[in-house]
Amino acid sequence: RVVVLDFGGQYNQLIARRIRDLHVYSELLAHDITADELRALPIKGIVFSGGPRSVYEDGAPRVDPAIYELGIPILGICYGMQLMARDFHAHVDRAQMREYGQAIVETTGKAPLFVGTPDQQRVWMSHSDIVTSPPPGFQIDAVTSSAPVAAMSAPDRKLFGVQFHPEVQHTDYGDAILRNFLFDVCGCEPNWSMDSFIDRAIAEIRAQVGDKRVLMALSGGVDSSVTAALLHRAIGDRLTCVFVDHGLLRLGEAEQVMEMFAGVFQMDIRKIDARDRFFALLRGVTDPEVKRKRIGTEFVRVFDETARDLGEYAFLGQGTLYTDVIESGTKTAATIKSHHNVGGLPKDMRFQLIEPLRSLFKDEARALGEQLGLPHAFVWRQPFPGPGLAIRVIGEVTPERVDILQKADAIVREEVINNGLEQEVWQYFAVLTDTRSVGVMGDERTYFATVAIRAVTSRDGMTAEFAQIPYHVLAIMSNRICNEVPGVNRVVYDVTSKPPATIEWE
Ligand code: XMP
Repeated sequence: RVVVLDFGGQYNQLIARRIRDLHVYSELLAHDITADELRALPIKGIVFSGGPRSVYEDGAPRVDPAIYELGIPILGICYGMQLMARDFHAHVDRAQMREYGQAIVETTGKAPLFVGTPDQQRVWMSHSDIVTSPPPGFQIDAVTSSAPVAAMSAPDRKLFGVQFHPEVQHTDYGDAILRNFLFDVCGCEPNWSMDSFIDRAIAEIRAQVGDKRVLMALSGGVDSSVTAALLHRAIGDRLTCVFVDHGLLRLGEAEQVMEMFAGVFQMDIRKIDARDRFFALLRGVTDPEVKRKRIGTEFVRVFDETARDLGEYAFLGQGTLYTDVIESGTKTAATIKSHHNVGGLPKDMRFQLIEPLRSLFKDEARALGEQLGLPHAFVWRQPFPGPGLAIRVIGEVTPERVDILQKADAIVREEVINNGLEQEVWQYFAVLTDTRSVGVMGDERTYFATVAIRAVTSRDGMTAEFAQIPYHVLAIMSNRICNEVPGVNRVVYDVTSKPPATIEWE
């Protein structure tokens, strides 16, 4: 495996990802890991990632200098290269001009990293510091018009640095450069795949769990479902899943989850019908944050009570993904919404955590799920928030209003699929607004609820644009909702992007 040491750059997750795409296992580790800790891992290469700081700033992240003595090849990218330059006594300066975006580098000689790539190539730069001359013992491998050291190396010591970002797609030969590092310099074999991930994960789970038992909260979402399937493959009946039905899932979803895990997978799964408890707690509540917090707390309470009844478990399984690790790691990020993922850890419980998906991205977790036998349509479902439909029912959440929303939402989803739009659209759902309006049905006046249709395109949910769903599809949705869902007489389409709006309404 090759590890990426994290200095906080925005593309760091991508580096590990690209390396895995080249069939070498890779994961991101904190930059303050020690050389001794690294030595204990079987690793063939180390990447220093980019980062937002300046290497001379107070508190700028550093590495344990003994890492350079391990004899393991190191590739420094952007900040990573500047750090390497500083550690070997070269000069790093503020650049006259910040380089951001595309640049042309010219390679000098044919350093190992650039074998098989043209002398001039397009790369992606994003930095405000530059290495002005290489450290003693290093050679210059590439330059740009404004960076005298765009790449450098000390091949005999297996140290390499690039100022640009080989991991982003705008660097034309990024893959070739990473390949040269992985296969020629580090001597990795391209033999990693989801299958080998499964084998390795199962071996690790068995070693960690021994003959003990694992308890897990299964929300029905992709992450916890894939984790459960993986744990089940590793330890079979020593896994118990608790599925808390809070009554806020989409139409038919609770049944589908039980059918799949209890029926097809024959897993030990206990369904707790907690619908009344959740609805009681949500009575009269209209504030979105209060809804979110109450649901989160109540979920933990129900899970906690159930766990106590079930007896001794040494481990708690969780579907934590790499992106969750990163998000919870950004201490400075403002709370826009208190995100809640079902499966929060009860405070006073004496469990050890087991999180086998920690190093994976969402789409990798989905691919893993398919490999483990979960249905394609199930693992590739659109994202669904932890607090469920409660945050799509604006105003008070009652069983009747959730029922209306479930029916309207099912129609929106059906029509997106019937019209072949589900690949293009990131999320699509219905919202039950708290606006009532006057309508006429047959010869009668109605005064019913308004449903909003929300559909967005997005790459990662951080920003989004409203999806340009064809009018004729919107017309079908609107007709069907008013005809088939009692209590609704008006449908509107949300044409706001994120920002300024968010994807969810609450
Ligand atoms: P917003 O509404 O903030 O949503 O634009 C961004 C993405 O996150 C999902 N979302 C959640 N996911 N727990 C989750 O696991 C939550 O509490 C939560 N709230 C929003 C939302 O569906 C969208 O994909």
